[in-house]
Amino acid sequence: MNEIKDILSKYKNIAMIGVSNDPTKASTIVMKYMQKYGYKVYPVNPKAKGQKILGEEVFEKITDIKDKIESHLWQDNLVVTNSWVNVQGEDSRLNFHNHPNSIMSGAIYLKVDDNSSELYFENPNSMYFNYGEPVSVMPVTGMCLMWPSWLKHGSGQSTNKSSERIVLSFNTFFKEGGNIWV
Ligand SMILES: [Fe+2]
Repeated sequence: MNEIKDILSKYKNIAMIGVSNDPTKASTIVMKYMQKYGYKVYPVNPKAKGQKILGEEVFEKITDIKDKIESHLWQDNLVVTNSWVNVQGEDSRLNFHNHPNSIMSGAIYLKVDDNSSELYFENPNSMYFNYGEPVSVMPVTGMCLMWPSWLKHGSGQSTNKSSERIVLSFNTFFKEGGNIWV
C-alpha cells in the first residue's frame, strides 16, 4: 500500500488504459476521482479514439502519450524474467490465476477478434467484498496490458469463441541491484 501511496504522491500524470465512456464503469469512476484530486488523466482506448471522456481526449495507444506520462517509472528498474505465447482455440477458457514471485505481469495481444474472450481481473482478497466484483477488458490486436502480478486474471465470465486467440504474456521482477525509485 505504501508503494502505491508513494507513486500517487510522486506522479501526477496518469495514463488509464481501457477507460470507458460509460459513467457507471469502475474505470470511469476512478478517473473522475483522480481528476478531483488534481491528477491529469490521459484515457487510452482504441475503441473510443478521438472521443472525450470526462473532458479528456481519448488516445488510441499508449505510445501516443509517451511524452506526457512518467513512463520511466517502471522500465528502468524492471526486467522481463519469463515470457510465453498462449494459443487458444474455440470454446477455450483461462482459469483465474496470478503470478507469484513477479512484480508486474502483462500481455500483448497478437491475434484477437470480436469473438475472442475478454480478460477479467478479480481482487484475490475476499475481505474487500465491495471491491471483489471482477472487471474486464476486451482486447484488440496490438494491445499491451500490464497489471500487478498478485492480481488474479482469467476468462472469468467469458468463453473464447475465436478459432485462434494468440497472446504473448510476460512477467517482470526488479533488476538486480536496482531501486524501484531510481
Ligand atoms: Fe497470467
